[in-house]
Amino acid sequence: MEMKSMTLLILYATQTGNALDVAERIAREAERRACTVVISSTDDYDANSLPAEDTVIFVVSTTGQGDTPDSMKVFWRFLLQRNLGSHWLEGIHYAVFGLGDSGYQKYNFVAKKLDKRLSDLGATAVVERGLGDDQHPSGYEAALDPWLSSLWSRLNEIKPHFFPKGPDFLVSNEELIGLPKVQVTYHNVNDMDSRLSTATDFKYLQMQIGRARSMSSGKVPHEKSKPDAFLKMVKNFPLTRASHEKDVRHFEFEFVSQVIKYEIGDVLEVLPSQSPAAVDSFIQRCNLDPESLITVHPREMENRHIDNNVNTLDVPIKLRTFVELTMDVTSASPRRYFFEVMSFFATAEHEKERLQYFASPEGRDDLYQYNQKERRTVVEVLEDFPSVQMPFEWFVQLVPPLKNRAFSISSSPLAHPTQVHLTVDVVSWTTPFKRKRQGLCSTWLASLDPEQSMMC
Ligand SMILES: Cc1cc2nc3c(=O)[nH]c(=O)nc-3n(C[C@H](O)[C@H](O)[C@H](O)COP(=O)(O)O)c2cc1C
Repeated sequence: MEMKSMTLLILYATQTGNALDVAERIAREAERRACTVVISSTDDYDANSLPAEDTVIFVVSTTGQGDTPDSMKVFWRFLLQRNLGSHWLEGIHYAVFGLGDSGYQKYNFVAKKLDKRLSDLGATAVVERGLGDDQHPSGYEAALDPWLSSLWSRLNEIKPHFFPKGPDFLVSNEELIGLPKVQVTYHNVNDMDSRLSTATDFKYLQMQIGRARSMSSGKVPHEKSKPDAFLKMVKNFPLTRASHEKDVRHFEFEFVSQVIKYEIGDVLEVLPSQSPAAVDSFIQRCNLDPESLITVHPREMENRHIDNNVNTLDVPIKLRTFVELTMDVTSASPRRYFFEVMSFFATAEHEKERLQYFASPEGRDDLYQYNQKERRTVVEVLEDFPSVQMPFEWFVQLVPPLKNRAFSISSSPLAHPTQVHLTVDVVSWTTPFKRKRQGLCSTWLASLDPEQSMMC
């Protein structure tokens, strides 16, 4: 009899991180069932190996106008090869969960195309594909919850070898919660890169940013960890009157480290800066020492192999720098799992109960109203649950990553070879509970003084 792989493969393709979150959740749920998983981005996986797999769970989002995420382009081109034939994936089982937005014409196009292609190549679906929709009042999780229930019950039926401890075995969340995915090592001052105290040059700054962001638990794509260039803002003026409801700005930047070639229609990705006061208040709230020197490593776990090559750099950096450059504590809302883990660390009973409710299927809609709709930040959530003290490792794992923001370039390189111009709407809005919110990056850019500012 043919030996069956005991490992469930989870392949994800994400543009902005949601598919990674879903893939992580599937991996956690598998681990709770004693099922061994490998989780990998499609760009870290050799598609040639697919016929050797047993069962593959795909979690893919759609971007652009029905396009695959960048990390899936090579994988998808491979799958489309004509010579693969209709038996190439015979005997392989698969399931597809898609992330999309039904406001787009090509709704969940990538998941639908992938599902069809896998079936055309001879693979067998374990369950019907699931389609998460941003337009749903509870977001993509509304479709994910029932899809996961049927996935586990179907896998239990047809693939019992994945569940060596039987179909009813389920480790409680609380037991698993003791193991964050990352490990933080604290160093003494002698381990510090000797150039820290003196260097102010771009190369060093670039290295610091690259180091922090490549350590950050695989949440920042490898190629985006180091900035390509540093820019100096030379003009910042409003295009709208002060009385106008919108604040649209014209920004001009000069390349200061090196000139980057661009074309009309390209986008400029900007790493925004977070308010220093908010970063400090997060660090204080978590009882951390901003000056401590740390390195961050992925933790190897018994049932899981994280198949990416993050964190090859072992040089410590300051905790404050790490938080500032990689953890979005001031603008992004945390995910549902953040509330689940918080519930474990809450010491006040009423906080624990509320957090458990938020993390449960019944509390999903209320969490969506409290958290996502209100764009509650990590700092604000922590204020609402003062009894929670979590180890820093959990924050590193769960706080949303600080992401680059993409802006369409509004200048022509022919007219401005050493400059790049942006026309930016400084975003602000009012939430359903009448809280004023502002876009992190556009607000920061608008606040910069061309006489002083440097950015990347
Ligand atoms: C620029 C952009 C383009 C998008 N295009 C589509 C699309 O064509 N079809 C669709 O169903 N969803 C589209 N979406 C919605 C995303 O698929 C959805 O937000 C998803 O949760 C993102 O998952 P990710 O973070 O894993 O990339 C688009 C989102 C953005 C920001």
